[in-house]
Amino acid sequence: MRYGFFDDSKCEYVIIRPDTPLPWINYLGNEAFFGLISNTAGGYVFYRDARLRRLTRYRYNNVPLDTGGRYLYIRDDGSSGKDAPAGDYWSPSWQPTRHALENYACRHGLGYTVIGSTYGGIEAQTRYFVPLGEDLEIWQLTVTNHRDRPARLSVFSCVEFCLWDAWDDATNFQRNFNLGEVEVDASDDSRGVIYHKTEYRERRNHFAFFACSEPLAGFDTQRDAFLGPYAGWDSPEAVVRGRSSGSLVHGWAPIGSHHVRLALEPGETRQILFLLGYHENPDGQKFDPPGSQQINKHTVGPVLDRYLDAENVDAAFAALRAYWDDLREVLQVETPDVHTNRMVNIWNAYQCMVTFNMSRSASYFESGIGRGMGFRDSNQDLLGFVHMIPERARERILDLAATQLESGGAYHQYQPLTKRGNDAVGSGFNDDPHWLILAVAAYLKETGNWGILDERVPYDNRPGSEQPLYEHLQRSLRYTLDRLGPHGLPLIGRADWNDCLNLNTFSSTPGESFQTAVTKEGKTAESVFIAGLFVLAAKEMAAIARWRGLQQEAEGYEAQARTMEEAVHQHGWDGDWFLRAYDDRGQKIGSHECVEGKIFIEPQGICILAGIGVGSGADGGPANAERALASVDQHLATAHGIVLHQPAYTRYYLNLGEISSYPPGYKENAGIFCHTNPWIMIAEAISGHGDQAHNYYLRINPSAREEIGDVHRCEPYVYAQMIAGRDAPTHGEAKNSWLTGTAAWNYVAISQWILGMRPTFGGLQIAPVVPQDWPGFKATRIYRGVTYHISVERVGVGNAVALCVDGRAIESNVIPAPPKEQKTVLVQVALGRAGG
Ligand code: BGC
Ligand code: NOJ
Repeated sequence: MRYGFFDDSKCEYVIIRPDTPLPWINYLGNEAFFGLISNTAGGYVFYRDARLRRLTRYRYNNVPLDTGGRYLYIRDDGSSGKDAPAGDYWSPSWQPTRHALENYACRHGLGYTVIGSTYGGIEAQTRYFVPLGEDLEIWQLTVTNHRDRPARLSVFSCVEFCLWDAWDDATNFQRNFNLGEVEVDASDDSRGVIYHKTEYRERRNHFAFFACSEPLAGFDTQRDAFLGPYAGWDSPEAVVRGRSSGSLVHGWAPIGSHHVRLALEPGETRQILFLLGYHENPDGQKFDPPGSQQINKHTVGPVLDRYLDAENVDAAFAALRAYWDDLREVLQVETPDVHTNRMVNIWNAYQCMVTFNMSRSASYFESGIGRGMGFRDSNQDLLGFVHMIPERARERILDLAATQLESGGAYHQYQPLTKRGNDAVGSGFNDDPHWLILAVAAYLKETGNWGILDERVPYDNRPGSEQPLYEHLQRSLRYTLDRLGPHGLPLIGRADWNDCLNLNTFSSTPGESFQTAVTKEGKTAESVFIAGLFVLAAKEMAAIARWRGLQQEAEGYEAQARTMEEAVHQHGWDGDWFLRAYDDRGQKIGSHECVEGKIFIEPQGICILAGIGVGSGADGGPANAERALASVDQHLATAHGIVLHQPAYTRYYLNLGEISSYPPGYKENAGIFCHTNPWIMIAEAISGHGDQAHNYYLRINPSAREEIGDVHRCEPYVYAQMIAGRDAPTHGEAKNSWLTGTAAWNYVAISQWILGMRPTFGGLQIAPVVPQDWPGFKATRIYRGVTYHISVERVGVGNAVALCVDGRAIESNVIPAPPKEQKTVLVQVALGRAGG
């Protein structure tokens, strides 16, 4: 069943019933000020850090679902007649009152959401967005009277303020119930601004504001005064009564609620603007008059003036649309498959931006208080983002590298506000440092800006410890070489990519963290996954060194890669697939010898990506890639995607950790952990299997799953982290949508490996491995400042390519950079061997 449809021409997904299986959300904001918004206007906003600077409250895991949001209520104040009885009220976004609405539609677009409906002849639509470069969210409410007589209406807004630190806000009531403070500016000629200033009196220099463009009939700032005792958001006393109480909060729960009265003639439309924002004052200028306790509003004044003007708001919206059009233009494709087109051109690119911004911090499954920016996660997110805004990718690389430790290891996470490594989680996830090499390589391949390697970056943010970024990368490799196990394979540490394969933890205490409560020193357990990742990273380092003219060094990395490859061939191959690991007793994991967990997806993907066992053994090793892929198909592939391992663990294994803590088929215990699927797609492409690669691509492509909305349940426009595996009673059900490495990796798999437009150190390479029955495809790619119009035409079977650049045949499949002044290049690609 479907709950909406794609409107590709507008780059929107349109939800046409509010009761989606789960809230289907969107993100607002681009760089510093962010909001999560559901299809019924739920969600919250924050400045930079979802934990430390949360502006509004949201209650996770509440009933009904999705409690807390940007609430608007419309009340019929007395036009008589049948449409809506006087005193009736409703929410145009359905929540929180959940009245039956006509023409409900939620349009999620790139950086904005529009929610509208009609009730009793009154149409109301709200457009929510964050203007570029601003720290505020705009709600543009348009109300139209479709009745044949005048309507007298009240509009009530409401947000509940969070006392900044979302964790403390949700736990420390004995203090927090005494803190809440606001100021209200609601005189006749004012802009109806409610300022939330809890803790501004002491060490904070920031406040939140909630402004309204219309003269106020009233306001409330005390939650209980607005709602009334024991009432919920669905029936606030102020709305029922049709009058705010002018409450000023002193402690308890600060809210912002405006009350505006509207008189609309038949057919008349009016717009009301609401602004919800964050503002900082310079330390010495917090108060006005100086010495008072009142907020100095001179600095925020111009911001309010600007965006309480409808023309400026429309212009800001147009700028946001143009911004996204520009970003999307970097890569546009036209293939025979609609799901490929809309994901590559619109939604996957968009999700890559969101994951780049959020890492795994704030979604409807990530509470925003648990994790900051993940080291491994952010480096991978960058792979799907670097082509859009390389400067931001560069900044991120330098931030990440600055949290690296001198050992070459890395803090597993850092807090975006402070940019400091998170001590509570610490380091010792032994795959972490290699992802930095992959991210830097991707940046270099995209931009050709080699200067980044000479940037001096500290370790652990310690002044005085600065070294060139290149040295950081060298230490990343060294970290693994310093930590090899009995088979010459890398020691796993707390975990590798699979956070839940905890081979040194042995936890028997309920609730203990599997990642941090490590009990063993870890001199035995080894990871074949890290071995593969090491080979991949060492090969990238060799290429980087060679490009820099460091021949000997390059050979050194190649030798290290070969030695590791040899160790994988000898000790990491199980006969039909790559082994997963050795545990603390030196026993195999992911082997046919095991009772459960005989075969894992991760090493098959990463080893083949690294070139291990690829080809006819020309590298001196056996040609195992094909066998490994056949085993994946045979043992792991399902109609809903490829599961993580088989058989699932049916009980808890002390020596394996969190992986066996999940019921079979969920998450890391044999779920379809979507992040890993593109590795197999890439491996299939590397092996020349276009049909299989694209077939796997479609199994988890959310657009291709739109029809099975009741099974899939998550949004059909973005990837989810996990789809329940074949052992799960709810096989096919997605969870943890939005913030997942799946976004970047799928984007890389489809655009660089299946469609085959691949940035390399030397230029843009064209090597499609697409389904045999595709007659071809077209693409536009802006690369290093040049627009390439690429048209691929199948002339025969197979994946051989012949390139014609601006009408001239070239030998290689890497397009040479055109002369400086040339900005457009025409590339014709003949795919397959004619007559073959
Ligand atoms: C989740 C993993 C996640 C880890 C990080 C686990 O509970 O299953 O997906 O990486 O927590 O803390
Ligand atoms: C989610 C984590 O954010 C990511 O870092 C990890 O690789 C996967 N889970 C798999 O455990």
